[in-house]
Amino acid sequence: MVDRRPFRWLFGLTCVALASACGSTLPDDVRGYESDCIRMNAAPIPPYQGDPHRGRKNVYACEVAQEQLEANARPFPDGALIVKESTRDGESHVWLIATARKQGDSWQWDEYTRNFADEEFRHILSGESVCTGCHDDARAADWIFTTYDAAPDGATCSPSQREQCGQRGDQEVLELGPR
Ligand code: HEC
Repeated sequence: MVDRRPFRWLFGLTCVALASACGSTLPDDVRGYESDCIRMNAAPIPPYQGDPHRGRKNVYACEVAQEQLEANARPFPDGALIVKESTRDGESHVWLIATARKQGDSWQWDEYTRNFADEEFRHILSGESVCTGCHDDARAADWIFTTYDAAPDGATCSPSQREQCGQRGDQEVLELGPR
């Protein structure tokens, strides 16, 4: 029988070297975004051709004042955290979480995925340039495409009012240039 132990050892070492590939899961301040943060899109963003993050999506803003969101005022403040979740067709659990975290004047970009509902999200090791290469099209809007959609009748899309918010029409995405 083949002794696989050396390979296991090697795998362990690779995990130490690439901690973000093997170890890290959702940061604490990203967990709970659904109840702690404000949803920006009134209705889920449907899948479309050329979709960079496959599925039906929602975008949440954390650590940003409601008034600033409603005014769609940019730039976002230092410490802002924007979370995008995506659910694939035919599934009910979120499979992807992409985050943009404002640190000083720049954003840090991260992506986490899982296959099954009872699985932990895992950080994906991909260069941030993949993200910024495309988000550069929204540079004039502080690199963030999604605009805040107020709910009907002047109500806002605070977490407690998601039901009303979810019934509005399509999400607006800023058209800021060719992609
Ligand atoms: C090919 C273009 C493209 C690439 C590549 C891309 N994005 Fe996006 N991203 C978008 C668009 C367009 C939206 C607006 C919502 C939508 O349509 O999904 C978006 C939305 C987001 C949002 C919500 C805030 C916003 O801008 O609306 C986050 C967070 C995000 N992306 C993170 C990432 C990360 C992290 C990566 C890299 C791993 C990445 N994106 C790569 C196009 C892209």
